[in-house]
Amino acid sequence: MNTSAPVGHALDAPGVAPGGTRSRSHTVGPPLWLLLELTYRCPLHCVFCYNPTDFANTGPELSTADWIRVLREARALGAVQLGLSGGEPLARDDLEEIVAEAHTLGFYINLITSGIGMTEARIKALKAAGLDHIQLSFQDSTREMNDFLSSTRTFELKAKVAELIRTHDYPMVLNVVLHRLNIDHVGEILAMAEALGAQYVELANTQYYGWAWLNREQLLPTRAQLERAEAATRAFRERVGAKMQIYFVVPDYFETRPKACMSGLGSVFLAVAPDGTALPCHAARTLPGLELPNVRGADVRAIWYDSPAFNRFRGDAWMKEPCRSCPEKVKDFGGCRCQAYLLTGDADNADPVCDLSPHHHLVTAAVARAERAAAAPAVAAPQSARAQGLTFRDHRVSIPVVIEEKRT
Ligand code: FES
Repeated sequence: MNTSAPVGHALDAPGVAPGGTRSRSHTVGPPLWLLLELTYRCPLHCVFCYNPTDFANTGPELSTADWIRVLREARALGAVQLGLSGGEPLARDDLEEIVAEAHTLGFYINLITSGIGMTEARIKALKAAGLDHIQLSFQDSTREMNDFLSSTRTFELKAKVAELIRTHDYPMVLNVVLHRLNIDHVGEILAMAEALGAQYVELANTQYYGWAWLNREQLLPTRAQLERAEAATRAFRERVGAKMQIYFVVPDYFETRPKACMSGLGSVFLAVAPDGTALPCHAARTLPGLELPNVRGADVRAIWYDSPAFNRFRGDAWMKEPCRSCPEKVKDFGGCRCQAYLLTGDADNADPVCDLSPHHHLVTAAVARAERAAAAPAVAAPQSARAQGLTFRDHRVSIPVVIEEKRT
Protein backbone atom coordinates (compact mmCIF):
# COMPACT_ATOMS: atom_id res chain seq x y z
CA MET A 1 0.00 0.00 0.00
CA ASN A 2 1.23 3.47 -0.85
CA THR A 3 1.80 5.11 2.53
CA SER A 4 2.84 8.44 1.10
CA ALA A 5 -0.70 9.29 0.07
CA PRO A 6 -1.85 12.57 1.60
CA VAL A 7 -4.53 12.31 4.25
CA GLY A 8 -5.95 15.78 4.04
CA HIS A 9 -5.83 19.01 2.13
CA ALA A 10 -6.60 22.36 3.66
CA LEU A 11 -8.15 24.91 1.38
CA ASP A 12 -10.35 27.89 1.24
CA ALA A 13 -13.35 26.25 -0.35
CA PRO A 14 -14.00 28.08 -3.58
CA GLY A 15 -17.65 26.96 -3.58
CA VAL A 16 -19.88 29.86 -4.27
CA ALA A 17 -23.35 29.40 -2.92
CA PRO A 18 -26.36 30.52 -4.96
CA GLY A 19 -26.69 34.24 -4.73
CA GLY A 20 -22.94 34.64 -4.66
CA THR A 21 -22.20 34.00 -0.99
CA ARG A 22 -18.81 32.46 -0.44
CA SER A 23 -18.77 29.31 1.63
CA ARG A 24 -16.63 29.25 4.77
CA SER A 25 -13.08 27.95 4.76
CA HIS A 26 -12.77 24.40 5.90
CA THR A 27 -10.52 21.41 5.67
CA VAL A 28 -11.33 18.78 3.09
CA GLY A 29 -10.09 15.22 3.59
CA PRO A 30 -9.40 12.77 0.79
CA PRO A 31 -12.05 10.82 -1.13
CA LEU A 32 -11.67 7.71 1.03
CA TRP A 33 -14.47 5.83 -0.75
CA LEU A 34 -14.17 5.59 -4.51
CA LEU A 35 -16.97 4.06 -6.56
CA LEU A 36 -16.37 3.30 -10.22
CA GLU A 37 -19.59 2.69 -12.12
CA LEU A 38 -17.81 0.88 -14.92
CA THR A 39 -20.79 0.56 -17.25
CA TYR A 40 -24.51 1.26 -17.43
CA ARG A 41 -24.91 -1.98 -19.41
CA CYS A 42 -26.82 -4.53 -17.38
CA PRO A 43 -28.75 -7.66 -18.29
CA LEU A 44 -31.31 -6.92 -15.57
CA HIS A 45 -34.15 -4.40 -15.68
CA CYS A 46 -34.72 -3.73 -11.98
CA VAL A 47 -37.58 -1.42 -11.12
CA PHE A 48 -35.62 0.05 -8.17
CA CYS A 49 -32.29 0.65 -9.94
CA TYR A 50 -30.61 3.86 -8.76
CA ASN A 51 -29.00 4.53 -12.16
CA PRO A 52 -30.33 7.66 -13.87
CA THR A 53 -33.53 7.14 -15.85
CA ASP A 54 -31.93 8.95 -18.79
CA PHE A 55 -28.71 6.90 -18.80
CA ALA A 56 -29.38 5.87 -22.39
CA ASN A 57 -28.29 9.40 -23.35
CA THR A 58 -24.86 9.29 -21.74
CA GLY A 59 -21.69 9.19 -23.81
CA PRO A 60 -19.31 6.30 -24.47
CA GLU A 61 -17.73 4.36 -21.62
CA LEU A 62 -14.22 5.16 -20.45
CA SER A 63 -11.45 3.01 -21.83
CA THR A 64 -9.36 0.65 -19.71
CA ALA A 65 -6.51 3.17 -19.76
CA ASP A 66 -8.84 5.92 -18.49
CA TRP A 67 -10.07 3.78 -15.58
CA ILE A 68 -6.51 2.89 -14.66
CA ARG A 69 -5.51 6.54 -14.66
CA VAL A 70 -8.47 7.36 -12.40
CA LEU A 71 -7.42 4.61 -9.99
CA ARG A 72 -3.85 5.93 -9.83
CA GLU A 73 -4.93 9.53 -9.33
CA ALA A 74 -7.50 8.66 -6.67
CA ARG A 75 -5.10 6.39 -4.79
CA ALA A 76 -2.48 9.14 -4.80
CA LEU A 77 -5.06 11.38 -3.11
CA GLY A 78 -5.64 8.79 -0.37
CA ALA A 79 -8.65 6.78 -1.62
CA VAL A 80 -8.61 3.34 0.01
CA GLN A 81 -11.99 1.65 -0.44
CA LEU A 82 -12.92 0.81 -4.00
CA GLY A 83 -16.37 -0.24 -5.18
CA LEU A 84 -16.75 -1.58 -8.72
CA SER A 85 -20.36 -1.40 -9.82
CA GLY A 86 -22.53 -0.41 -12.75
CA GLY A 87 -24.87 -1.43 -14.36
CA GLU A 88 -23.27 -4.84 -14.19
CA PRO A 89 -19.48 -4.54 -13.87
CA LEU A 90 -19.01 -8.09 -15.19
CA ALA A 91 -20.21 -6.74 -18.55
CA ARG A 92 -16.74 -5.16 -18.89
CA ASP A 93 -14.27 -7.71 -20.20
CA ASP A 94 -11.39 -5.64 -18.80
CA LEU A 95 -12.68 -6.03 -15.23
CA GLU A 96 -9.80 -8.35 -14.30
CA GLU A 97 -7.27 -5.80 -15.59
CA ILE A 98 -8.87 -3.01 -13.59
CA VAL A 99 -8.94 -5.18 -10.46
CA ALA A 100 -5.27 -6.12 -10.90
CA GLU A 101 -4.24 -2.47 -11.10
CA ALA A 102 -6.37 -1.54 -8.09
CA HIS A 103 -4.81 -4.39 -6.10
CA THR A 104 -1.29 -3.29 -7.01
CA LEU A 105 -2.16 0.22 -5.85
CA GLY A 106 -3.35 -1.09 -2.48
CA PHE A 107 -7.12 -0.60 -2.70
CA TYR A 108 -9.55 -2.82 -0.81
CA ILE A 109 -11.75 -3.91 -3.73
CA ASN A 110 -15.44 -4.76 -3.55
CA LEU A 111 -17.30 -6.05 -6.61
CA ILE A 112 -20.99 -5.11 -6.47
CA THR A 113 -22.74 -7.49 -8.83
CA SER A 114 -25.96 -9.19 -9.85
CA GLY A 115 -23.80 -12.23 -10.55
CA ILE A 116 -24.82 -12.35 -14.22
CA GLY A 117 -21.67 -13.01 -16.23
CA MET A 118 -19.76 -14.68 -13.38
CA THR A 119 -18.23 -18.01 -14.33
CA GLU A 120 -15.72 -20.36 -12.77
CA ALA A 121 -13.02 -18.96 -15.07
CA ARG A 122 -13.83 -15.35 -14.25
CA ILE A 123 -13.98 -15.79 -10.51
CA LYS A 124 -10.60 -17.56 -10.62
CA ALA A 125 -9.14 -14.74 -12.69
CA LEU A 126 -10.62 -12.07 -10.40
CA LYS A 127 -9.24 -13.85 -7.35
CA ALA A 128 -5.80 -14.06 -8.98
CA ALA A 129 -6.03 -10.35 -9.83
CA GLY A 130 -6.59 -9.51 -6.15
CA LEU A 131 -10.34 -8.98 -5.76
CA ASP A 132 -11.09 -8.82 -2.01
CA HIS A 133 -14.85 -8.97 -1.71
CA ILE A 134 -18.00 -9.74 -3.72
CA GLN A 135 -21.46 -8.43 -2.90
CA LEU A 136 -24.14 -10.43 -4.68
CA SER A 137 -27.66 -9.09 -5.10
CA PHE A 138 -30.89 -11.05 -5.04
CA GLN A 139 -34.28 -9.49 -5.74
CA ASP A 140 -36.28 -11.90 -3.59
CA SER A 141 -36.38 -15.36 -2.03
CA THR A 142 -38.82 -16.62 -4.65
CA ARG A 143 -37.99 -17.29 -8.27
CA GLU A 144 -41.25 -15.72 -9.36
CA MET A 145 -40.63 -12.34 -7.70
CA ASN A 146 -36.86 -12.32 -8.31
CA ASP A 147 -37.42 -12.85 -12.01
CA PHE A 148 -40.37 -10.49 -12.20
CA LEU A 149 -38.58 -7.57 -10.51
CA SER A 150 -35.52 -7.90 -12.76
CA SER A 151 -37.53 -8.91 -15.82
CA THR A 152 -35.14 -11.82 -16.40
CA ARG A 153 -34.84 -15.51 -15.57
CA THR A 154 -31.87 -15.26 -13.26
CA PHE A 155 -32.85 -16.77 -9.90
CA GLU A 156 -31.10 -20.14 -10.40
CA LEU A 157 -28.10 -18.44 -11.96
CA LYS A 158 -27.64 -16.28 -8.87
CA ALA A 159 -27.77 -19.36 -6.65
CA LYS A 160 -25.00 -20.88 -8.78
CA VAL A 161 -22.92 -17.72 -8.44
CA ALA A 162 -23.39 -17.85 -4.66
CA GLU A 163 -21.95 -21.37 -4.81
CA LEU A 164 -18.96 -20.11 -6.82
CA ILE A 165 -18.38 -17.35 -4.27
CA ARG A 166 -18.39 -19.88 -1.46
CA THR A 167 -16.11 -22.36 -3.17
CA HIS A 168 -13.59 -19.63 -3.95
CA ASP A 169 -13.38 -18.67 -0.28
CA TYR A 170 -14.94 -15.27 -0.44
CA PRO A 171 -17.15 -14.20 2.45
CA MET A 172 -20.77 -14.64 1.37
CA VAL A 173 -22.26 -11.13 1.26
CA LEU A 174 -25.79 -10.73 -0.03
CA ASN A 175 -27.76 -7.61 -0.75
CA VAL A 176 -31.53 -7.54 -1.17
CA VAL A 177 -33.35 -4.30 -1.92
CA LEU A 178 -36.66 -4.19 -0.03
CA HIS A 179 -39.93 -2.52 -1.06
CA ARG A 180 -43.66 -3.09 -0.93
CA LEU A 181 -43.55 -6.11 -3.26
CA ASN A 182 -41.02 -8.19 -1.32
CA ILE A 183 -40.73 -6.78 2.20
CA ASP A 184 -43.21 -9.33 3.54
CA HIS A 185 -40.74 -12.05 2.50
CA VAL A 186 -37.96 -10.92 4.85
CA GLY A 187 -38.17 -14.11 6.92
CA GLU A 188 -37.85 -16.24 3.77
CA ILE A 189 -35.10 -14.01 2.36
CA LEU A 190 -33.07 -14.49 5.54
CA ALA A 191 -33.71 -18.25 5.47
CA MET A 192 -32.47 -18.31 1.85
CA ALA A 193 -29.37 -16.36 2.90
CA GLU A 194 -28.72 -18.86 5.68
CA ALA A 195 -29.10 -21.78 3.28
CA LEU A 196 -26.60 -20.10 0.93
CA GLY A 197 -24.12 -19.76 3.80
CA ALA A 198 -24.24 -15.96 3.98
CA GLN A 199 -22.09 -14.23 6.59
CA TYR A 200 -23.42 -10.74 5.84
CA VAL A 201 -26.83 -9.72 4.54
CA GLU A 202 -27.85 -6.19 3.72
CA LEU A 203 -31.60 -5.68 3.69
CA ALA A 204 -31.59 -2.33 2.00
CA ASN A 205 -34.94 -0.61 1.91
CA THR A 206 -35.29 1.22 -1.37
CA GLN A 207 -33.96 4.76 -1.54
CA TYR A 208 -35.99 6.76 -4.01
CA TYR A 209 -33.68 7.93 -6.81
CA GLY A 210 -33.43 6.92 -10.45
CA TRP A 211 -35.86 4.17 -11.49
CA ALA A 212 -37.00 3.76 -7.89
CA TRP A 213 -38.10 7.41 -7.86
CA LEU A 214 -40.08 6.76 -11.02
CA ASN A 215 -41.75 3.75 -9.34
CA ARG A 216 -42.04 5.15 -5.82
CA GLU A 217 -45.84 5.02 -5.70
CA GLN A 218 -45.72 1.26 -6.34
CA LEU A 219 -42.66 0.48 -4.20
CA LEU A 220 -43.04 2.42 -0.95
CA PRO A 221 -44.06 -0.06 1.75
CA THR A 222 -46.52 0.57 4.54
CA ARG A 223 -45.54 1.18 8.16
CA ALA A 224 -47.14 -2.15 9.13
CA GLN A 225 -45.01 -3.95 6.52
CA LEU A 226 -41.90 -2.26 7.81
CA GLU A 227 -42.68 -3.21 11.41
CA ARG A 228 -43.31 -6.83 10.42
CA ALA A 229 -40.01 -6.94 8.52
CA GLU A 230 -38.12 -5.48 11.49
CA ALA A 231 -39.74 -8.02 13.82
CA ALA A 232 -38.83 -10.89 11.47
CA THR A 233 -35.25 -9.62 11.31
CA ARG A 234 -35.02 -9.38 15.13
CA ALA A 235 -36.37 -12.91 15.55
CA PHE A 236 -33.92 -14.24 12.97
CA ARG A 237 -30.99 -12.45 14.62
CA GLU A 238 -31.93 -14.00 17.96
CA ARG A 239 -31.99 -17.45 16.40
CA VAL A 240 -28.73 -17.33 14.43
CA GLY A 241 -26.68 -15.09 16.74
CA ALA A 242 -23.27 -13.98 15.49
CA LYS A 243 -23.26 -16.51 12.64
CA MET A 244 -24.76 -13.94 10.28
CA GLN A 245 -24.51 -10.13 10.40
CA ILE A 246 -27.71 -8.50 9.17
CA TYR A 247 -27.86 -4.83 8.26
CA PHE A 248 -31.40 -3.55 8.04
CA VAL A 249 -31.33 -0.20 6.26
CA VAL A 250 -34.49 1.65 7.29
CA PRO A 251 -36.43 3.54 4.60
CA ASP A 252 -35.97 7.16 5.55
CA TYR A 253 -39.53 8.13 4.55
CA PHE A 254 -40.58 6.64 7.90
CA GLU A 255 -38.10 8.68 9.93
CA THR A 256 -38.31 12.17 11.38
CA ARG A 257 -34.64 13.04 10.94
CA PRO A 258 -32.79 12.67 7.62
CA LYS A 259 -29.87 10.40 6.87
CA ALA A 260 -26.41 11.99 6.75
CA CYS A 261 -26.27 11.26 3.04
CA MET A 262 -22.70 10.57 1.85
CA SER A 263 -21.57 12.04 5.20
CA GLY A 264 -22.16 15.35 3.41
CA LEU A 265 -21.46 15.85 -0.29
CA GLY A 266 -17.78 16.23 -1.11
CA SER A 267 -16.75 14.78 2.24
CA VAL A 268 -15.52 11.21 1.64
CA PHE A 269 -17.30 9.83 -1.43
CA LEU A 270 -16.38 10.13 -5.09
CA ALA A 271 -18.13 8.22 -7.86
CA VAL A 272 -17.19 8.10 -11.51
CA ALA A 273 -19.94 7.27 -13.99
CA PRO A 274 -19.31 5.11 -17.10
CA ASP A 275 -18.81 8.18 -19.31
CA GLY A 276 -16.26 9.68 -16.90
CA THR A 277 -18.59 12.12 -15.15
CA ALA A 278 -17.39 12.60 -11.57
CA LEU A 279 -20.17 12.62 -9.01
CA PRO A 280 -20.26 13.60 -5.32
CA CYS A 281 -23.11 11.08 -4.87
CA HIS A 282 -24.71 8.38 -7.04
CA ALA A 283 -27.69 10.55 -7.93
CA ALA A 284 -25.97 13.93 -8.41
CA ARG A 285 -26.73 14.00 -12.14
CA THR A 286 -30.24 14.84 -11.00
CA LEU A 287 -29.22 18.14 -9.42
CA PRO A 288 -29.82 21.09 -11.72
CA GLY A 289 -27.09 23.66 -12.19
CA LEU A 290 -24.34 21.39 -10.92
CA GLU A 291 -21.63 21.42 -13.59
CA LEU A 292 -20.24 17.98 -13.09
CA PRO A 293 -16.59 17.59 -14.09
CA ASN A 294 -15.38 14.71 -16.22
CA VAL A 295 -12.23 12.67 -15.64
CA ARG A 296 -11.51 12.88 -19.37
CA GLY A 297 -10.82 16.59 -18.99
CA ALA A 298 -9.49 16.97 -15.45
CA ASP A 299 -7.46 14.97 -12.99
CA VAL A 300 -9.04 13.55 -9.85
CA ARG A 301 -7.18 15.98 -7.55
CA ALA A 302 -8.52 19.02 -9.39
CA ILE A 303 -12.02 17.50 -9.48
CA TRP A 304 -12.07 16.70 -5.78
CA TYR A 305 -10.51 19.87 -4.38
CA ASP A 306 -11.16 22.58 -6.92
CA SER A 307 -14.27 21.85 -8.97
CA PRO A 308 -17.35 23.97 -8.15
CA ALA A 309 -19.51 20.82 -8.17
CA PHE A 310 -17.56 19.11 -5.39
CA ASN A 311 -17.36 22.32 -3.35
CA ARG A 312 -20.99 23.27 -3.85
CA PHE A 313 -22.30 21.53 -0.72
CA ARG A 314 -19.21 21.57 1.48
CA GLY A 315 -19.49 23.47 4.72
CA ASP A 316 -22.86 24.97 5.64
CA ALA A 317 -22.93 28.33 3.84
CA TRP A 318 -25.32 26.91 1.24
CA MET A 319 -27.90 25.86 3.85
CA LYS A 320 -31.26 27.49 4.28
CA GLU A 321 -33.35 27.56 7.43
CA PRO A 322 -34.25 25.48 9.34
CA CYS A 323 -30.91 23.68 8.73
CA ARG A 324 -28.67 26.74 8.97
CA SER A 325 -29.38 27.41 12.65
CA CYS A 326 -30.10 23.79 13.59
CA PRO A 327 -27.67 22.19 16.07
CA GLU A 328 -28.20 18.83 14.33
CA LYS A 329 -26.67 20.05 11.06
CA VAL A 330 -23.29 18.74 12.19
CA LYS A 331 -24.81 15.24 12.36
CA ASP A 332 -26.99 15.07 9.26
CA PHE A 333 -25.65 17.90 7.03
CA GLY A 334 -29.24 18.80 6.16
CA GLY A 335 -29.93 15.28 4.85
CA CYS A 336 -29.89 14.25 1.22
CA ARG A 337 -29.51 16.97 -1.43
CA CYS A 338 -30.99 14.81 -4.18
CA GLN A 339 -34.04 13.98 -2.09
CA ALA A 340 -34.47 17.67 -1.20
CA TYR A 341 -34.42 18.50 -4.91
CA LEU A 342 -36.69 15.68 -6.05
CA LEU A 343 -39.29 16.48 -3.41
CA THR A 344 -39.14 20.28 -3.18
CA GLY A 345 -37.49 21.43 -6.42
CA ASP A 346 -34.64 23.12 -4.48
CA ALA A 347 -31.51 21.17 -3.52
CA ASP A 348 -30.65 23.78 -0.84
CA ASN A 349 -33.78 23.00 1.16
CA ALA A 350 -33.75 20.74 4.19
CA ASP A 351 -34.37 17.11 3.29
CA PRO A 352 -38.17 16.81 3.76
CA VAL A 353 -37.68 13.62 5.76
CA CYS A 354 -36.88 15.99 8.64
CA ASP A 355 -40.04 16.89 10.55
CA LEU A 356 -38.64 20.41 11.02
CA SER A 357 -38.78 20.92 7.25
CA PRO A 358 -41.74 22.96 5.98
CA HIS A 359 -42.00 20.30 3.25
CA HIS A 360 -42.22 17.29 5.57
CA HIS A 361 -45.86 16.82 4.56
CA LEU A 362 -44.64 15.64 1.11
CA VAL A 363 -43.07 12.61 2.78
CA THR A 364 -46.00 11.84 5.06
CA ALA A 365 -48.40 12.22 2.11
CA ALA A 366 -46.39 9.66 0.08
CA VAL A 367 -46.54 7.25 3.03
CA ALA A 368 -50.30 7.84 3.35
CA ARG A 369 -50.76 7.04 -0.36
CA ALA A 370 -48.79 3.82 0.16
CA GLU A 371 -51.14 2.89 3.02
CA ARG A 372 -54.19 3.50 0.81
CA ALA A 373 -52.72 1.53 -2.09
CA ALA A 374 -51.92 -1.40 0.18
CA ALA A 375 -55.48 -1.34 1.54
CA ALA A 376 -56.87 -1.85 -1.97
CA PRO A 377 -58.18 -5.37 -2.74
CA ALA A 378 -55.35 -7.88 -2.68
CA VAL A 379 -53.97 -9.19 -5.97
CA ALA A 380 -50.93 -11.47 -6.28
CA ALA A 381 -47.93 -9.17 -6.26
CA PRO A 382 -46.54 -9.58 -9.79
CA GLN A 383 -49.97 -9.21 -11.36
CA SER A 384 -50.74 -6.26 -9.13
CA ALA A 385 -47.41 -4.60 -9.94
CA ARG A 386 -48.01 -5.10 -13.65
CA ALA A 387 -51.44 -3.61 -13.33
CA GLN A 388 -50.01 -0.63 -11.50
CA GLY A 389 -47.69 0.21 -14.40
CA LEU A 390 -44.22 -0.27 -12.98
CA THR A 391 -41.49 1.06 -15.23
CA PHE A 392 -38.59 -1.34 -15.77
CA ARG A 393 -35.04 -0.10 -16.27
CA ASP A 394 -34.39 -0.17 -19.98
CA HIS A 395 -31.48 1.09 -22.05
CA ARG A 396 -33.80 1.73 -24.99
CA VAL A 397 -35.74 4.47 -23.27
CA SER A 398 -34.63 7.72 -21.75
CA ILE A 399 -36.92 9.23 -19.16
CA PRO A 400 -36.27 12.72 -17.80
CA VAL A 401 -36.45 13.31 -14.06
CA VAL A 402 -39.73 14.80 -12.87
CA ILE A 403 -39.75 16.41 -9.43
CA GLU A 404 -42.60 15.88 -6.96
CA GLU A 405 -44.58 19.07 -7.59
CA LYS A 406 -44.66 18.43 -11.35
CA ARG A 407 -45.95 14.90 -10.97
CA THR A 408 -49.60 14.45 -11.78
FE1 FES B 1 -27.38 12.68 -3.66
FE2 FES B 1 -28.18 11.87 -1.18
S1 FES B 1 -28.24 10.77 -3.07
S2 FES B 1 -27.09 13.68 -1.75
